Amino acid sequence: MSIASRLFDFLSKKKKVSEGGGEEAIKKQISMGKMTARDRINAILDEGSFYEYDMFVEHKCEDFGMNSKELPADGVITGTGTMFGQPVCIYAQDFTVAGGSLGLMHARKITKIMDHAIKLGVPIICINDSGGARIQEGVNSLAGYGEIFFRNTRASGVIPQISVILGPCAGGAVYSPALTDFVFVVDNISKMFITGPEVVKSVLGEEISMEDLGGAKIHAEVTGNAHFFANSEAESFEQIKRLITFIPWSNRKKALKFPPKSKVSQIDIQNILPQDSTQPYDVRDVIRAVADDADFMEVQELWAANIVIGFCRINGDTIGIIGNQPLVMAGVLDVDSSDKAARFIRYCDAFNIPIVTFVDLPGYMPGVDQEHAGVIRHGAKLLYAYSEATVPKITVILRKAYGGGYIAMCSRHLGADFVFAWPNAEIAVMGPEGAANIIFRKEIMSAKNPDEMRKIKVKEYTDKFSNPYVAAANGYIDAVIKAEETRSYIAHSIEISQDKLEVMPTKKHGIPPF
Ligand code: HXC
Repeated sequence: MSIASRLFDFLSKKKKVSEGGGEEAIKKQISMGKMTARDRINAILDEGSFYEYDMFVEHKCEDFGMNSKELPADGVITGTGTMFGQPVCIYAQDFTVAGGSLGLMHARKITKIMDHAIKLGVPIICINDSGGARIQEGVNSLAGYGEIFFRNTRASGVIPQISVILGPCAGGAVYSPALTDFVFVVDNISKMFITGPEVVKSVLGEEISMEDLGGAKIHAEVTGNAHFFANSEAESFEQIKRLITFIPWSNRKKALKFPPKSKVSQIDIQNILPQDSTQPYDVRDVIRAVADDADFMEVQELWAANIVIGFCRINGDTIGIIGNQPLVMAGVLDVDSSDKAARFIRYCDAFNIPIVTFVDLPGYMPGVDQEHAGVIRHGAKLLYAYSEATVPKITVILRKAYGGGYIAMCSRHLGADFVFAWPNAEIAVMGPEGAANIIFRKEIMSAKNPDEMRKIKVKEYTDKFSNPYVAAANGYIDAVIKAEETRSYIAHSIEISQDKLEVMPTKKHGIPPF
């Protein structure tokens, strides 16, 4: 064979593979608002930076007529490229080829690129669009999933793992995204479920649409499986690009530095809190007021909104933020908000991102529902995550810090390095009303005018405990600061904590209340 005919042979093979499942399948894909696998990769990476590997991998299945079936690239595109000029590994399942189903060689392509990402110390971006285990390949498909889950777990806390669900992610396939750090979903496109609507119907007799069972909104708002919700694939890719600017490329690196455009906050932090301390406000205003350029990227915005988590920068460096949200259920802690914050704290700690906590909460949510849903076990995750974290931990008490909530929200007692409180902070075992009703019950009941006596006793309790000075007198908070001093106190605390060193007791690992 001449060099020219070998080149021709190569080019026609490459063209065939590049066409994936063929014209009809691609048309169907596009008609559903979906891009092709290679287009998705190119849209996420820096322009022209993608290098594809294992294009000519073929499946090995001979059963159920598979020996005569060609599956281009075995239904998954893998390779490397750059984002913001930095290397990343990426794969995208190609639904146009056998529904993106995962067989042995498909899985091997994925585990190979995951191994590269771990060795190179770079993020891996996983684009899921698949009908799940390739049914014809039987146990080999299951083996493939197991080997992916194993690597997801081993890579956890070492390199960032980002999953994007751009089609079905069915059966056991859901557990790979669930093991990764961030899951992105797109309305009307993402569908994640262990058992599909047909199985639900045949086993339980319940009719449910795929959207209501495991659509994007369900995972963004109800299950908490998704961290970012978008209305289109293009919007989702912009979210990924934004997130990646905030996070370190591996646990050995710092996040890219983006110096602020302006050193002065445009938000008037002094007037965010309402005069009446029972009134709500949006804690994100406080976060934006201290963040560089008021830029805050919220994570899991639509789920457990009584706590806010996300990333911002202070003087160009990434900071992880956790804040009670008085706008939603008064910012109370419950099962979901504890889970949400605890996992985020562990993410920040694994990747050496300092944590800033803004506190304003009445405590843990009371009630049978929460008790029976395991608020003890889930709430304990938050205590564990804060206590375990060794990154710089800075806490600002904005207003209420009552009871268990005071302890749980990164108090001095859980190892906060710096604790500041605004002058109107109320640090007590519980709110003054509740406290007065319990400890002065006899005086109130026996008074000629119980309502008047209650008011006197509430004031007495407020004067004594609902302020920051008792905690300050005990050294539990380091400084009472004015609202407008918050950014500079945080910035200074972070700056002087660059070389923070905390030695943990020797152990293989702890046993968090999973
Ligand atoms: C082999 C599959 C497949 C699969 C889809 N296809 N899923 N082939 N194994 N798991 C093929 C179809 O046969 C079809 O091939 C092509 O992909 C497109 O599929 P359609 O059904 O035509 O597409 P659509 O109507 O969009 O429906 C998509 C779907 C549906 C909802 C994902 O295909 C589906 O329900 N698939 C099965 C989902 C599932 O139950 N998976 C779990 C597997 S068990 P042709 O040749 O006709 O184009 C599992 C356990 C893993 O995953 C456990 C690990 C721990």
